[in-house]
Amino acid sequence: MVCTVSTPLLIDTDPGNDDAVLIALALASDEFDVIGLTTVAGNETIGNTTRNARSVLELLDRTDVPVAEGCGRPLVDEPNTADVHGPGGLYGAVPEPGVEPIEDHAVRFVLDQVRRYGDELRLLAVGPLTNVALALAIEPELPEMIDGIHVMGGAATTTGNVTPAAEFNFHHDPAAASRVVQDGTPSVVGLDVTDRATVPAGEIEELARGDEPGRSIACWLAYASHDELLAGLDESRDRFSVHDAVVIADLLGDVLTFEDYYLEIDTSGGPSHGSVVCDTRGVTGRDPNATVAVEIDTEEFRSVLFDTLDELV
Ligand code: BDR
Ligand code: CA
Repeated sequence: MVCTVSTPLLIDTDPGNDDAVLIALALASDEFDVIGLTTVAGNETIGNTTRNARSVLELLDRTDVPVAEGCGRPLVDEPNTADVHGPGGLYGAVPEPGVEPIEDHAVRFVLDQVRRYGDELRLLAVGPLTNVALALAIEPELPEMIDGIHVMGGAATTTGNVTPAAEFNFHHDPAAASRVVQDGTPSVVGLDVTDRATVPAGEIEELARGDEPGRSIACWLAYASHDELLAGLDESRDRFSVHDAVVIADLLGDVLTFEDYYLEIDTSGGPSHGSVVCDTRGVTGRDPNATVAVEIDTEEFRSVLFDTLDELV
């Protein structure tokens, strides 16, 4: 088993603008050693999310980080994509990636890293949970073998963003989300807090007026092209929630408050398909199976974000 000074991080992701911000923050911090990116279909097709992951690494001059391509469709449901991430799923410069993904499938790569780094490893999963669910199916002891699984997904105590009840990542692959919640003892960071992880337009525009990689990071923060940014953003538009970045910001600072709850994911196919049923009153009598983020300090989030990005721009 490998022992490291900084904490090894494995990021399962579907970039995606907010995914790209998370990747940039993780790479900028010397608290973490990003040992790889695994990709999953979600915000875009698997071809596009894998290309975007490699483009982000190219832009940030970190092509030493391996990228393993993962599942191209949900376990049970039909594939769909998100519509807020721009053409191909990523705004900004998106340079042509020079390095190919590794040969291993993402699920195989995850399992190898779990065995290699053991209880030092943190697994961040900020896309649909297809790869993670399959890894758990192959290695049921995985949650006990590593330091933790940190998920962005769900709306435990609030409304959804793709249906009135469901959040995008969990709705994309509810069967996988259900498996991870049942067996993964995850920390769950959902819309309950990430909706409030916003960045003021003025600060994004200032970043956009500088050089790369700040310009592209500004585009990712705003889910907007560089031209749109230079024309000026409408401060009143609710478009700057940097959902995935909250997961890493809380590992870097003290941004979130958590409570333990018993969760189930609705896989019934009805109007609340993909939603989280969160037993806040303890009426099921079941032991908690997840640690759920319930409160965010937005000012602290912004200060962790910009302090960490300072290392890059
Ligand atoms: C989640 O959905 C995706 O569009 C984002 O990347 C984030 O992971 C927010 O609901
Ligand atoms: Ca994502």
